[in-house]
Amino acid sequence: MVKLALEGGPKAKKHAYGWGRRFGREELKQLSEALEQNTLFYHRGTKVREMCETFRKMIRTKHCVATSSGTASIHVALGAVGLRPGDEVITSPISDFGSVIGILYQNAIPIFCDLDPHTYNMTAETIEARITRKTRAILVVHLAGNPADMNPITKLARDRKLALIEDCAQSYLASYRGRFVGTIGDVGCFSLNDFKHISAGDGGMVVTNRDDLASKLAMFADKNYRRTPGGSPLREIASLAPNYRMTELQGAVGLAQLGKLKRICKKRHEIGEGYTRGLKDIPGIFPHKVPAGGRSTYWFYMFRVDSKVLGASREKFVEAVQAEGVAASAGYIPAPIYRWEVFRRRTIYPGSKCPYDCKHTRKGIRYNKGLCPEAERILETAVRLPVNEFFTKTDVRETVAGIRKVAKHFLARKGIEL
Ligand SMILES: Cc1ncc(COP(=O)(O)O)c(C=O)c1O
Repeated sequence: MVKLALEGGPKAKKHAYGWGRRFGREELKQLSEALEQNTLFYHRGTKVREMCETFRKMIRTKHCVATSSGTASIHVALGAVGLRPGDEVITSPISDFGSVIGILYQNAIPIFCDLDPHTYNMTAETIEARITRKTRAILVVHLAGNPADMNPITKLARDRKLALIEDCAQSYLASYRGRFVGTIGDVGCFSLNDFKHISAGDGGMVVTNRDDLASKLAMFADKNYRRTPGGSPLREIASLAPNYRMTELQGAVGLAQLGKLKRICKKRHEIGEGYTRGLKDIPGIFPHKVPAGGRSTYWFYMFRVDSKVLGASREKFVEAVQAEGVAASAGYIPAPIYRWEVFRRRTIYPGSKCPYDCKHTRKGIRYNKGLCPEAERILETAVRLPVNEFFTKTDVRETVAGIRKVAKHFLARKGIEL
């Protein structure tokens, strides 16, 4: 058997991972046109509008509003559906903090539900288990480019009269039964931060098919001002809304990036599926599962290991895979969001226990360890692989080879042949 690189053997990954430039002439052209307009204000210029129109048509939805971030997009969606203090929003414990920031700013309560063990997404069953009389919305996170199993979730939301918001920050052009994520629920939320499929440095977009929500989304992203063509805005402010406007510079870059999005997503899809093909027959390894009828655009790839079957801890396994030159890492976020200090100590608004002691809030909300056992186990047993549109077929082949080599080594010690 070939010696592990960890023990001085040759590395399985022999070539550096593919790399390339995300920004080029297209972005420069758009930026220069934006500056030529002599305004960088979204309502006067054309770039933000054009970006939204392009994206809206691409994912086949009726309305699109630009925002300043993915976090802002989610806040805007929640504001537009009329979230009230004390309302509960059911969401995923494995996500970015940006998924819950808007909930808290509305003095509403994030309620975390458990996840499918292999898609790492919320399911209708885990969501339903968390519904209370205060539940107002479901915020589905399509994690890592992988669409959640939306048919049962959509039915649940409809039956229980809950708003359904999709957090698609990691899932551009991922689809489910022929529809792009973000267009299935009431509102879809996207991020243009620098780590996503496409980047405008920062920024976001919200989309909806609901005509009644379109102007609410636009207003909530812009201080609840009602912008009129040409003239000054109507400032009849009935309730609080932040300023989450996007500038024309971001719109220009976002527009150019949208021109590359289909190719980026196709490439990421192929890379992720290549990893699955290479890993699916290894005892003790569970590939990243995509739900039936789903198509993932893999923002990253995450498989799970059963250390009892493999005969190696997740940490030892990852160490050996890394030594092979494979860019694997253990886990994702350090703990489910509900175990982060801000929730453990309830210091959302320091110096108070708001919004948990608010009179509108249901009593007895807990964020104890064990709240979402599967999510906790996912983080303890997952191994993450990077996915990048610049990776080559050699990268996929060598990455798989490195993982298989390490698995073969550990399995052989247990008398299992690979
Ligand atoms: C799933 C998810 N939701 C929301 C966000 C927040 O996006 P942004 O960083 O643009 O505010 C992110 C960003 O990392 C994310 O991954």
